[in-house]
Order: sequence, then C-alpha cells, then structure tokens
Amino acid sequence: MDKTEQTIATPNFIGLLLEVEQDAMAAIQTGEKSTDELRLEFLGGKSELAKLTKQIRLVSQADRAQVGTVLNQVKEKIEEALAKHTSYKSDARTEEIDITAPGILPPMGHLHIVTQAINEITRIFERIGFTRVRHPEVDWDWYAFESLNMPPNHPARDEWETFFIDFPGKPSVIPSEVEGSLAHASSNKLRDSSHKHAQNDKFKNIVLTPHTSNGQVREMEKKKLPIRMINIAKCYRRQSDISHVPMFHQFEGLYVDKNVSISHLKGVLDYFVKQFFGPERKTRLRPFHFQFTEPSFEIDITCGVCNGRGCRLCKEGWLELGGAGMVHPVVLKNGGIDPDMYTGFAFGWGVERTAMMKSNTQLDDIRLLYGNDIRFLEQF
Ligand code: FA5
Repeated sequence: MDKTEQTIATPNFIGLLLEVEQDAMAAIQTGEKSTDELRLEFLGGKSELAKLTKQIRLVSQADRAQVGTVLNQVKEKIEEALAKHTSYKSDARTEEIDITAPGILPPMGHLHIVTQAINEITRIFERIGFTRVRHPEVDWDWYAFESLNMPPNHPARDEWETFFIDFPGKPSVIPSEVEGSLAHASSNKLRDSSHKHAQNDKFKNIVLTPHTSNGQVREMEKKKLPIRMINIAKCYRRQSDISHVPMFHQFEGLYVDKNVSISHLKGVLDYFVKQFFGPERKTRLRPFHFQFTEPSFEIDITCGVCNGRGCRLCKEGWLELGGAGMVHPVVLKNGGIDPDMYTGFAFGWGVERTAMMKSNTQLDDIRLLYGNDIRFLEQF
C-alpha cells in the first residue's frame, strides 16, 4: 500500500460490496437487459466489483480474509442469479431479433373469387365504354318492380318477391344507403310536380332487391344520354340449392341510344364471353319472357365443370348465366326517355355462376362460395 492511499474501514467496504449485490439483483430481476450485458456490467473488468477487488488491499490486514470471503460470496450470488436469468424476456427478445435465424412467412390473404370476378367483369366492360355504377341494394318497390312493368300482384313478381319493409312508419330501420335514395326520390317529386300524386303512391314499400334491374330506371333518371352502364350489386332471393344462394351478385348492363338493335346486344355479349371465358366457349340465346324487355332471352353457356357432357350442376351440359333483351318502351317512358327516339338493350347475369363457369374453377356447388371454409377459398 502506498503512503498517500487512505485505508477503508472494514464495515464501509462490506457495505459497498452489499450495495453492488443489491444493484445487481435488482437489474437482473427487471429483465430489461440481456445476460451478457448484465455480466459485463456487474462482473466485467470495469465493474464496481472489479474495482473493489483491487481496493481490498486498502482494508486492514487483519480483516482482509473476512472481506475477501464476503467479496467471493457476492460474486457467487451474482453468478447464480445470472445463470437463472437465461429464461428472462430480455433474452427471448434477443433471440427474436437474431437476424441469422430463418424468416417466418406470414399467412397471405387474397381477394375472394367473387370479388376477383367483379373486378375482371368491370375491366372488360370498361374497355368498350361501359361505366361501373352502383344503385341501391335495398330499394323502392317502384324501381325493383313497378317501373319495370310489374304492377302489384303481377304473377311475374312471384319468384322475385323477397323481404318488404313498409315505409313510412319506421324510419329508424332504414339503412343509410336507402336514406340516400329517399332524398333522390323526394327531389324527383319536387322537380316533377305534375306527377305529385302518382309519385307519392310510388314510394311506399322498400324491398331487398331481387335483381340489379332496379338500376335501369334510376340510371335513366340521371338524364344523361347515351347510357352505357354496368351496375354490379348484391341481390336477394328465397332460394338455396346447388345453383342458387339467398344472397348473390348480378351485373346489369344497360345501353340506351338512338338505333340500338339486337345485333348490338349480341355483339356485346359475344365480346364479354370471349374475353372472360376464352375464344372456344359456346353460348346460346333462348327466347324467354321478362316484363321489362321485348323481345327477351336467357343466355346459357356450355358447362365449365363437365365441358358440356352433363353433370349434377348443369344437368344437360348448359348452365343459365342470365337474362337479356331490348328495353321495353314502358320502361323507357318510366325513365323519362322517349321510346320513339331511343331504343336500348339490357342484360343481367349472375356473378357467382359466371365465375364458376371459368373452366379452371371446377366448382360444382354455388353454396361453397359462401361456406367460409378457408381451405376451399385458398384454392382460387
Ligand atoms: C333477372 O334477374 C333479370 N333481371 C335479368 C335481366 C336483366 C333480364 C335485364 C333482361 C334484362 P333471372 O332471374 O333469370 O333474371 O336471373 C339472372 C341470373 O342471376 C341467373 O341466370 C343467375 O345467373 C343469377 N341468379 C338468379 N338467382 C340466383 C340465385 N338465387 N343464386 C345465384 N345466382 C342467381
């Protein structure tokens, strides 16, 4: 010991050692630092304990052995605590950010097959000048039925009548989407006062729309001609089996201009089929009856599940995709368009069935689309 150095009283020295021990235990318990960091801080060459080890010679010779024993005990306790410390969260965290560990691929989601079909259908029609629009999925009986030439109690409604809500009466149950249409309908009433009484009668009942044809007269009311719309929305019906679901989607095309003819309708449908299904698929037009088109057709496609051989889905090799026809003059009139000057065609197809008929889906039960089985949905 050098003469200029001061001695340290034994109790003070032991007090310093116990302070180091306390600090170390507290730091180890918080789990904030890794074992390596703690070892360096409390047992390393520059630690307080290392400093005290060097200073042990400042303790009186007689007490040095006792102080040495305490120092060793403190060291051992810290070692012991550090050995148990490996399971602490800080170490787990250190392992998590080990940049050499192989990565874990997070599960990737993707768009539902119906949403993919909607996007593709929209793009195909956009290329020939049709604009995607949205009309209400809960609408006045007027737009869903009456304006389409289906007066109350007409048998053509039977298959399509769904869920009616009386209005006025319980405004609190009306969804915000319909509130928008109410505003639209009442502004019509104000514009056209000569029809005031008739209008009041029109907007009585609201219904979950059974088809997207409710958008036809609504689009005509925008008073922008020519019309080239594609309305894609949800529809509701009292049906559930291998080719029907109670909630499904339709895409409704409407083209109104001067001199529109059936050949335009056929050309547009052929174009769509070739784009969506490829050049080889066959479609056929079958004469049919809709109240709002004259003449009317249904369109079938050769089944993509059995390649037209006949299966449990299509039965005879053809599956119906939708209806079409030339817009009825009464409907044009209801939309404020002069049927002597303008003609038009309309079509309404099911999105789900259209998606199912792509030959690479092999989907033979429409209900699978809404079963929410991720193992099934992951395939598309
Ligand atoms: C209509 O809904 C007419 N509004 C189509 C139309 C529009 C004709 C414009 C003329 C002019 P239909 O009830 O046939 O027609 O339905 C059309 C298509 O919707 C069906 O061919 C089918 O693809 C789909 N569809 C109908 N009901 C269901 C259902 N419950 N589940 C799944 N798809 C359905």
